[in-house]
Amino acid sequence: MEIQRRTVLKGGLAAAVQFLVGCQVTANSNHPLIGFRPVPFAKGVGPMPVISEDYTYEVLIPWGTSLQPDGPAYEHPMTAASQVQQVGIGHDGMAYFPISQDGRRGLLALNHEYGRNRHVLGKPLPDNLTDVRTSQYAHGVSVVEIAEVDGRWQRVKSQYARRVHGNTKTTFSGPAANSPDLVNKAGNEYRGTFSNCSNGRTPWNTYLTCEENFNLYFATSGEFTPNAAQARYGLNKTGARYGWHLFDKRFDLSNSDYQNEANRFGWVMEVDPFDPEQIPVKRTALGRFKHEGAGHGVSRDGRVVVYMGDDQAFEHIYKFVSTDNWQAMQSRGISPLDEGILYVARFDDDGTGEWMPLSIDNPKLGKSFKNQADILINARLAATALGATDMDRPEWTTVAPNGDVYCSLTNNVERKVANAANQQAPNKNGHIIRWQDSDDFLGTSFKWNIFLMADDHYAGENSFGSADGLWADPDGRLFMMTDGDQRDDHCNQLLVADTKSGEIRRLLTGVTGCELTGITTTPDRRTLFANIQHPGNGDPKLTNFPAAFDQKTIPRDCTLVIRRRDGGIVGS
Ligand code: FEO
Ligand code: CA
Ligand code: CA
Repeated sequence: MEIQRRTVLKGGLAAAVQFLVGCQVTANSNHPLIGFRPVPFAKGVGPMPVISEDYTYEVLIPWGTSLQPDGPAYEHPMTAASQVQQVGIGHDGMAYFPISQDGRRGLLALNHEYGRNRHVLGKPLPDNLTDVRTSQYAHGVSVVEIAEVDGRWQRVKSQYARRVHGNTKTTFSGPAANSPDLVNKAGNEYRGTFSNCSNGRTPWNTYLTCEENFNLYFATSGEFTPNAAQARYGLNKTGARYGWHLFDKRFDLSNSDYQNEANRFGWVMEVDPFDPEQIPVKRTALGRFKHEGAGHGVSRDGRVVVYMGDDQAFEHIYKFVSTDNWQAMQSRGISPLDEGILYVARFDDDGTGEWMPLSIDNPKLGKSFKNQADILINARLAATALGATDMDRPEWTTVAPNGDVYCSLTNNVERKVANAANQQAPNKNGHIIRWQDSDDFLGTSFKWNIFLMADDHYAGENSFGSADGLWADPDGRLFMMTDGDQRDDHCNQLLVADTKSGEIRRLLTGVTGCELTGITTTPDRRTLFANIQHPGNGDPKLTNFPAAFDQKTIPRDCTLVIRRRDGGIVGS
């Protein structure tokens, strides 16, 4: 109860800050949406980031930064004892939760998607269980307290800071929570999160972390023949990327004592950044797939709606709608993410589409699935049974203030047959799709169009490919972060689009080998946080960022603090 009361108070502060921001936006609404000088395409390549002349960047919390100011210093190769007290690697989705009234002190919750063994351990495979733990601790989520002190953002001492990692105790909630398909013969408890890619946040100020390529952490030491569901989720003999299975049996697919361990991953997990004792909760009502993106909307009657991509070639787009007003559900002691309907999208040729319920009451599913838990655990199979549209790798989702929802379809070089919503075969550079649901987010029909095709810009000055991270700001801008091949081997980049005019400008380019991902701002939108993931793919010959380029020190994933030189709204 104490936690719920605090949650309400936090929500009140956030709402007040958002209201103030809204007033400022209205006052500025006569100015063009994008005014900054773009980074020229020719400059966007090399070992250091390049930012618009009208902006500055600073580096915050690189991999191995201790959670507390007096914690262990970064060292390489990493050790388990240090890593568990430090920011992880593979910075990805993130969200900023203000604490102070002025929004200049708050909690940054961020995902750590992956870190190769060579980068983290300094060797290709673990030699013992301690090495496995080091790798597991490098994954997951960090909650770090940060503040702007004398004009500079920094990590500060905190009562909230914590790590949630590949071996943290977790729990399950929602319709599949008590399914025998989440239980192993070994009787081991629920532990860990990894491959934490994109993210969401809730109206009640908690953090949602999306588990994506979990299959890559499972492998086999003996005989294993995947069943249809395991095959669909990519669980097979070839997944020995991390070697966790060599010393941590639950990752060995051929060990029948841990027969359902892989079903415990591929979920959206809720982390309360304001309660370091909270056991993170995997919300099964949102389905199991390779989760990427959990942008949300709230209907006028207060229901929460979460839009989600499943990032793999030919997979689908989903939405979840809570059964009732989220505050009413919370007051009854029910999580709004535990009771509701999960839908999957079918995009039709005429620019309309349908959300089809993944429900055991759906006659098309009743025969082939045991119960609702079975549908949620094997959501991919249920979606296909309903005729969901196969998409070009759905990554991030974001909901604009006018109710438009954007989803990045990053690329799909495997596509041989086009469909209306995925018109290029193959689709090397990807596109962004946009829809609006009927009935104020709640309807089962929608209207859609293609917001942009990257190929329409690829040859020009605004060249980009493989949009991935997305954020629709309150003014009508769409921030786009790329993760894929850019023309002439240029670096991945952060661009800003005007969703009305279609104008696009390049705000920042990253460093060689990196991807740009994760985006969140302070409530006043004068400070934007963005992540540099896998700079140089860990190779110091390519970049040493955030250190200056000396070809010696290993590059480190980090967050960038991005601000306009004149203190204006980011993106303007
Ligand atoms: Fe983790 Fe689909 O990017
Ligand atoms: Ca991504
Ligand atoms: Ca990507």
